[in-house]
This record gives sequence, structure tokens and C-alpha cells, in this order.
Amino acid sequence: MSKTKTLLMLPGDGIGVEVTGQVRRVIDWLSRKRGVTFDVREGLIGGASYDRHGTPLSDETLAEAMAADAVLLGAVGGPKWDDLPFDKKPERGLLRIRKEMGLFANLRPAVVFDALADASTLKLEVVKGLDIMILRELTGGIYFGQPRGIETLPDGTRKGFNTLVYTTPEIQRIARAAFDLAMKRNKKVCSVDKANVLESTVLWREEVIAVSKDYPEVELSHMYVDNAAMQLVRNPKQFDVMVTTNMFGDILSDCAAMLTGSLGMLPSASLGAPDAEGRRKALYEPVHGSAPDIAGRDIANPLATLLSFSMMLRYSFDMDAEADMIERAVKNVLAGGLRTADIMQAGKAKVSTSVMGEAIVRELDKLNV
Ligand code: IPM
Ligand code: MG
Repeated sequence: MSKTKTLLMLPGDGIGVEVTGQVRRVIDWLSRKRGVTFDVREGLIGGASYDRHGTPLSDETLAEAMAADAVLLGAVGGPKWDDLPFDKKPERGLLRIRKEMGLFANLRPAVVFDALADASTLKLEVVKGLDIMILRELTGGIYFGQPRGIETLPDGTRKGFNTLVYTTPEIQRIARAAFDLAMKRNKKVCSVDKANVLESTVLWREEVIAVSKDYPEVELSHMYVDNAAMQLVRNPKQFDVMVTTNMFGDILSDCAAMLTGSLGMLPSASLGAPDAEGRRKALYEPVHGSAPDIAGRDIANPLATLLSFSMMLRYSFDMDAEADMIERAVKNVLAGGLRTADIMQAGKAKVSTSVMGEAIVRELDKLNV
């Protein structure tokens, strides 16, 4: 456990700064108590990068991200940058880093911790024990398709347009990732599309079926996205792995987040294709955004980011023991009654971002015997 791992922290904007700060505590703890050292670098992305460099992602930061063993990102965006031209907006930095690093597989697990089962707006029995994985295609689809833009026609009418496009290799690799995940879970994949309307997802469905032939043990089903949104709130436990396009995954994962009680609980991992040595580029980030309305007040929930860090330990560094410890620490701290404002419940203790971070580290100490 002595090899130094390089980790690039990109706190970004708004609460991104506060929540990634809590991960620093855990990194310090790992080096003090478990002898695991990270070479931690820090960089700018989003509005913070725009303010300093005039671009939401500089080439230098992108190069550092490419060279790092893993990247941890907070969140980007805020009203301060809303009026910038499209290509300067904070979100463009995030989309560019995903695309340039080739992070096509976005894992968004939605897990309901027992202590929070009644924090969800849904009935306890609907969400208790929920553990599903949404796999979102992240570098294709309508987010990146060409042509795109806003044009003015000769008669003065303005036209805004985007293109939903998927090619067979793009579909095949995300389908494979879904079946590989399913093989380590409950061997069930539900592919979500809109094949009754959109040709690009007719192809999606055909290619997913073709790839499924290599995974005879996995049960494959298909669902239209409108039905999937409904089923996610009606009976989410019918799912195990859901695989879907970039935009559908964006929408369904916010929906799944609310099953867990709060958007502040959902972590994510974005992974590239393995290279010859089996190493993959990887970026970890909470699913939530920069929440400008509560930024700088030390009240945001750091758990989604801490859980994203635990995904990093698991997927990038094979440190399952430490990842398990962090997840157990989160579980125990919640069971002990500590809550940030977003998951506050009657009779529990409302704590700040930093007190939650400190509590996790104290709990790690107890678990590390
Ligand atoms: C997400 C976010 C981003 C997305 C935005 C901030 C560009 O909503 O990661 O889900 O749409 O992918
Ligand atoms: Mg989103």
C-alpha cells in the first residue's frame, strides 16, 4: 500500500468547494492511520476557472486530469456565470473534461441507507433496502451530437436544434459495461430507450440485444423512458442495473436520487475504457450541482462526495477495505442521528458540512481497530 497515487481535486464552484474539503479530511486520515498516501493536486474548473483563466477548463488542467490516477470533482455553475456565451459557461468545462477523458460510462448508484428510509418523499416500504445502479452513457447522444446551434432563418424566425446520435461502437461499449456490472450484482439489466419514436434508440435497442448474447446469464428487459420514470417512483426495487442514453440518464438519476432521501446522497463514477494494463481514466463526482443558494454557508451535505471518494478507492485503486470503511462510517453516523439540513428529520441532530465531515473521520477511527 505504499505506491503514491496522484489525485487531482477540482472543487469547482458553490458547494463544490465545501464538500470536497471534507474529502481532504478523509485523505489525511488515510495517510495517518492506514499508511495510504495520495499525491493530491488541486485545479480549477467551471466558473472558478473562467474567473482566473477566461475558460471553464484550461488545457493545463485537462492535461493534469489526463495524467492523474483519478480526479475528484465537486460541482460547477452559478448565477454569476449564467449570462456568459455558451462556450464559456461553467457546464462546458464539465462536458469537455468528460469528453476529452473518454469517460463514457457514468455509474450512478442509488442506495437507500436504512436510517434515511423515512427521509424519502416516497413511502418507506417503496424505498427501504433499495440498491440500484443507473449506468448513464456520458460522452455521446444529444449532449454532443452535431449539428447543433441556434440560427436565424431568412424570414427572421429563430431555430434552435440538437442532434441525438449514437453509433454502434458507442452503444456496444456501454451495453458491455452494463452487463459486466450486472454480472457482479443481480444479473438483471433494464435498457431504457424511446424506441417507439426515436430511430437512434431503435439502434440502441438492437445493439443492446446483440451484446446481450454474450451474457446468457443476465436477464435483459427494455423500457421506454416515460414508463421508466413512472416505474422508478412506483416500484424502484424492480430494477437492478438500468442502462440508458446520456440525456435520459441525466433525468432518471435525479429522479432516483430522491428515492434515497436527498440529491445530497448520490455519488457517481465516470470511467473510460481500460488501457492495455487494465487502467482506466476516471472522474468521481457527486450527482448534485453547485447549489448556489446555500453555497459558503457550511450547510451542504458532503456525503455524496465522500461516497464518490469511496467509489474512487474501489474502482481506481482496488482499496475495497477502505471503501467499505467509508461506507460503513456513513451508515453509522446516520444511524447515530446526525443530519445535514437536506436530510433533517424530527428528533435528529442538525449539523454543518464540516461537523458531518469530522464525524465521519471519528467514526473511521472507531472502525479502524
Ligand atoms: C449532471 C449534471 C450535468 C449534466 C450538467 C451540470 C452539465 O446535471 O452531471 O447530471 O447534465 O450532465
Ligand atoms: Mg444532472
